[in-house]
Amino acid sequence: MYFDSHAHYDDRQFDPDRDELLLSLSESGVDYVINCASDLASAEKVLDLVRRYDFVYGAVGIHPEAVGGLDPEAVTSLYGYIEESSKIVAVGEIGLDYHYEDNPERDVQQEWFIEQIELAKELELPVIVHSRDAAADTYEILRDYDAEQVGGVLHSYSGAPEMAQKYIDMGFYLGIGGMITFANAKKVAATVEKMPLERLLIETDCPYLAPVPMRGKRNDSGNLRYIAERIAQIKGVTPEEVARVTTENAKRLFQIQ
Ligand code: NI
Repeated sequence: MYFDSHAHYDDRQFDPDRDELLLSLSESGVDYVINCASDLASAEKVLDLVRRYDFVYGAVGIHPEAVGGLDPEAVTSLYGYIEESSKIVAVGEIGLDYHYEDNPERDVQQEWFIEQIELAKELELPVIVHSRDAAADTYEILRDYDAEQVGGVLHSYSGAPEMAQKYIDMGFYLGIGGMITFANAKKVAATVEKMPLERLLIETDCPYLAPVPMRGKRNDSGNLRYIAERIAQIKGVTPEEVARVTTENAKRLFQIQ
């Protein structure tokens, strides 16, 4: 009943118990997981995961923090990984991260963001977008390079409703994660309240960003229920309704039957 639209089970924090944990997720009601790559090395691991687990689908792309000094040929490698399995259903995670200055330089991040949007359009796959401290540039690039053609999700969305509406108008979804359970997350709570449930996805971004009451611990898809419960409380619907509608949304976006 839950669809985790953003996870990183290739992360080394899962090395001690990855198989055991993934096999136990169905007991927590987790029916689907999108595992996102962050660089070429993790793309290899994503392919391995989607082959081993029926319920795991993948996204392949290079995270903005990993694009520094990247060989231009990397885009050919990405293409190759994506073509290897029909279970690679998106290009991601890609985007902009201006949180740390020059990490890597902004123009390099922008070039790779654009390059990978073009790849997604060529392959007719949606994009999974990471944007931190870069809201205006992220929006302008998605708009100017016509990402609307393929659509996608603003992962771990934490911004205000005004910007959220602009993404929704462009056909995008908003990925709501553990932050929605934090007491100080006022902006994203306002966004969830005002935006239609039909445009929201839920995600863990595990092993990071565990929701309350698991905050600070290693996160996994079994914690999606806390996110669904909080969204349900804000929107005045049942958690089951949140789980059902966000699963339908994700299946529609990633074209999973
Ligand atoms: Ni992520």
